[in-house]
Amino acid sequence: MIVILTHRQMDFDALASMVAAQKIFPDSFMVVDGKSNPYVQDFIALAKDRLPFLRPKDVDWTRVEKIVLVDTHNLQRAAGIKEEVFDQIPLIVYDHHPYYGSLTDQMHIESIGSCTTLLIEEIRKMAIQLSPFEATLLALGIYDDTGSLLFESTTVRDVKAVAYLLEQGANLGVVAEYLRKPLIEDQKELLQQLLDNGKTKDFQGQPVYISWAEGDEYVGGLALLAHRVGEMEGAETLFLVVQMENRVYLVGRSRGRGLEVNRIVQTFGGAGHARAASATVKNASVDEILKQLDGELERQAHRINRVKDIMSYPVKTVSPEMKLSEVEQILLKYGHTGVPVAQENQLVGIISRRDVDKAIKHGLAHAPVKGFMTKDVVVVDAGSSWEDVQRTMVQHDIGRVPVLEDGKLAGIVSRSDILRIVHGSAVPTEMSLTRHRSLAMREDILHLFEELPERIRSLLGSAQQVADELGYSVFVVGGFVRDILLKVPTQDLDFVIEGDGHAFARALADQLQDVQVVFHDQFGTARLDFSDGSHLDVASSRREDYSSPGALPQVEESRLRDDMFRRDFTINAMAIAINSIHYGELVDYYGGLRDLKQGEIRFLHNLSFIEDPTRILRALRFAGRYGFRLAKETREGLYTALDAGVLQKLSIERFTEEFMHMLSELKFGVMGESMLLMGVLRKWFGAELPWDFTHPKLNQEISPERKLLISLRRMDKSQFEKVQEKLRLPREIKGIAYKYFDVMTGLISLGIAGEPSEASSYSKEKISLRSLDQYLEGIPAILMEVFLWDERFCDSVETYVEAVNGIHQTTDGMTLRQWGVKEGPDIGRILKAVRLAWLEGKIHTGEEEKEFVLSFLKGGLSNRPKGETTCST
Ligand code: CTP
Repeated sequence: MIVILTHRQMDFDALASMVAAQKIFPDSFMVVDGKSNPYVQDFIALAKDRLPFLRPKDVDWTRVEKIVLVDTHNLQRAAGIKEEVFDQIPLIVYDHHPYYGSLTDQMHIESIGSCTTLLIEEIRKMAIQLSPFEATLLALGIYDDTGSLLFESTTVRDVKAVAYLLEQGANLGVVAEYLRKPLIEDQKELLQQLLDNGKTKDFQGQPVYISWAEGDEYVGGLALLAHRVGEMEGAETLFLVVQMENRVYLVGRSRGRGLEVNRIVQTFGGAGHARAASATVKNASVDEILKQLDGELERQAHRINRVKDIMSYPVKTVSPEMKLSEVEQILLKYGHTGVPVAQENQLVGIISRRDVDKAIKHGLAHAPVKGFMTKDVVVVDAGSSWEDVQRTMVQHDIGRVPVLEDGKLAGIVSRSDILRIVHGSAVPTEMSLTRHRSLAMREDILHLFEELPERIRSLLGSAQQVADELGYSVFVVGGFVRDILLKVPTQDLDFVIEGDGHAFARALADQLQDVQVVFHDQFGTARLDFSDGSHLDVASSRREDYSSPGALPQVEESRLRDDMFRRDFTINAMAIAINSIHYGELVDYYGGLRDLKQGEIRFLHNLSFIEDPTRILRALRFAGRYGFRLAKETREGLYTALDAGVLQKLSIERFTEEFMHMLSELKFGVMGESMLLMGVLRKWFGAELPWDFTHPKLNQEISPERKLLISLRRMDKSQFEKVQEKLRLPREIKGIAYKYFDVMTGLISLGIAGEPSEASSYSKEKISLRSLDQYLEGIPAILMEVFLWDERFCDSVETYVEAVNGIHQTTDGMTLRQWGVKEGPDIGRILKAVRLAWLEGKIHTGEEEKEFVLSFLKGGLSNRPKGETTCST
């Protein structure tokens, strides 16, 4: 004879599995011993006729040829029969609990939601008919063990099995009735004790709810009580220790981030799943078990959440020399979103699919991956906890983190590995972590808002009102956010709207008055120009395909996140919420605040400079402006982009625009030096030009034109022509620069320019003021200033300026005419002679001037005083 056995405390999955096994082995007998859970008992009581059970004592074990064991693989957990008997009898096992030994043909053990499913699959294969009653009971088995197909252990196979049972006539009404049975009196009493005695303890950062209860009589349904307690306490991991009759029952449950309870329960001789397990201990007290449980939890909590336990390995890697096109193939083949780059088992970088795609789009398919990989790889140690890994992922915004063990690449952990673990629980997701951080910053930001000029505060107030009324989410973004956090004065506002940007701009303009609105239809952006010259930009991050006004905040946030990702540097990729409910919340997905604090300019992805080469200049501009440095990766990315020749993609206009932005900065000298040092200028102008960025004036508050001239001062005119070819300078600046070169060439031709040491040897007497006047007379003040700042010319020019300041000439054309000089070139000549006489100290007073003119007139114009030249210029 064949007997079918299952574990004690039979639940619906065990009962259903027995019934299913009997369909597969039609001549078998179901043998049950001990008590089952109360619902199962109820069910059996009602369906007694259809469920013919034998008691172990009714079986002649010597005649048993085969045992079919279901819903457990441990015979000792089955009916209380002597072990010697079993050793002789062949065993067939159907089970879905984790099994770590080696499997034989007769052991059908797979980790799926319910054991019944395994048997139904056999039944289907064998095309065995089921009655509606059987189909209903089997469905009850699956529903019970999978929490109505909601437990994490549920698989597609369980769902398919249910579908099959429904086809066979399973009655879900009956299933529902048995699953939702109210608690019986004894259970209620036990539940009360479990709630009264419970405490949440912390084990290595893992909260675990532990409770205990005692009762004289055996009360079934501990599993259900555990479920109820879990629900009421919101516990992710819970253990119940219950003494009944002479046994102590230990029940463990977990969900979400909870611990794998079977590992703990196993040490008490029990079994089960990671999410649900139980043990029965004889001859022990509740206190002893609680104590032992504490020790075990302490020991295991640390180990269980190590990243090593969840990482994937071995890791597919690529070599640094591999072409991007080949890397693309590998990523496609393996369906990865990124791949580590390794050389001789040492991790040297990582590259994402996004970067590979973009580089290929820019025609770089043949380039080796090493130029585009992220070298500064964020890694985690195999021993770190996965909470740490999650934090790392959020902080660096990376989806894959290589895991190192003893410095070697041991595995990789992806965002989905982590999500799998945290799925279904209230763990902080990236969004909520970001939000969490931002809430902590909110007070500070509101404080900073209070310091803003009244004009900006009222603007923000109006934007808030309009946004609230229109039901749009509105964020102030970019430079404004960066500068407010740096506490530097800030003027221009950029808004990103989750909604119709034009409608927002229009409504805001109506509210503000005295403002001009310009709409850019093709970009969906708008600009408000104020009468004081400041402006406000409005962009919309909602795309055409996105128009539902009631969309979930997460969806909106991810749009904002995309918008931020398109920006240049982390410090420019932050937003502050403006709507009243979120007013002042900082949205910082990419670690902008961290970089502001540590003074780093960091791009958001490796191809940032390739996509938009103006960012090369912007990076150096921001670095110079705030005294920041470029993050290592960003600096390397900048070199890679320069080597790839990206500057050639830039129009002269755009380069000039960026160059002019730099000229308007206080620290132009610093920026220029970095451009020189990094080879930006050589690449752009196609020549090594003698730029000068070391002059102290270049880092002081002087006008952009003055800065430009100083930086050009070491060039000659032909070199300046080269600069001219590649800079579309504004007309006035160009004019003044040409004049500067003319004067400078003249001055140099006088032989007065020399190194500082030589310059001092030029005595004031030696300089011919007359010659200087030839070039310096009447030049714009700006040029005079620039020469005065130039150590090569300053002594001479200063002498000249002093001399010019000493001229108090009163004679003019009118005076000369009164004295009889005819209209014509003579008037100019005489005036010039008078001016030079003043300049050279030949006359000092009005009297002397008059005498000089009269003697000049007496001597006749052709009879000039000695040393005079005709100055026709
Ligand atoms: N931006 C970008 N890439 C560029 C230009 C601009 O990502 N090539 C983004 C940045 O987020 C920047 C915002 O657009 O913060 C606004 O650009 P802009 O007004 O040029 O710069 P600000 O950051 O406001 O800096 P500044 O103080 O120089 O005006």
